[in-house]
Amino acid sequence: MAATRILFVCLGNICRSPMAEGVFRRVAEEEGLIDRFEIDSAGLGDWHIGQAPDHRAQKAARSRGVDISSQSARQVVDEDFERFDLLLVMDRSNYAELKARAPHEARAKIRPFLDFAPHVGTSDVPDPFFGGTEGFDHALDLIEAASRGLLASLTGEDRAKVKRSG
Ligand code: 4NP
Repeated sequence: MAATRILFVCLGNICRSPMAEGVFRRVAEEEGLIDRFEIDSAGLGDWHIGQAPDHRAQKAARSRGVDISSQSARQVVDEDFERFDLLLVMDRSNYAELKARAPHEARAKIRPFLDFAPHVGTSDVPDPFFGGTEGFDHALDLIEAASRGLLASLTGEDRAKVKRSG
């Protein structure tokens, strides 16, 4: 079976989408399903190209056993709309911006990441860049919930859900 290619997208690619890439990778590994996916992340802006994730994002992820230190920021490029099966955005602003850049035939591949965690009651992973550490922890809570929901949705397996409640 061909791997499902997933691109996580936020504004700068140094906070939310690197955490989403790392957490989803970790959740898929834990479930023994990592071989089914190709995972990457990118930003809408070009300010941080080539940089490692924000140290606060690295620290918050590390405290949950997820190492994102080797990631390097890049900007969304036109080929991404062809190459990836799903482009998952972190908030409504990312959604509008990415849809505006996408060719018509790729627009259906763009989804809010939190669509996969309807129980959290929000569509947005709030941007933690200008706030304190608690924003990174909150973002990680939402990202973990959506990662488990995404995995369950794509694999049709309930194990991720069982894990969430256990
Ligand atoms: P991210 O956070 O989109 O979660 O990576 C941000 C990082 C940098 C900036 C904005 C948001 N910035 O304006 O530089």
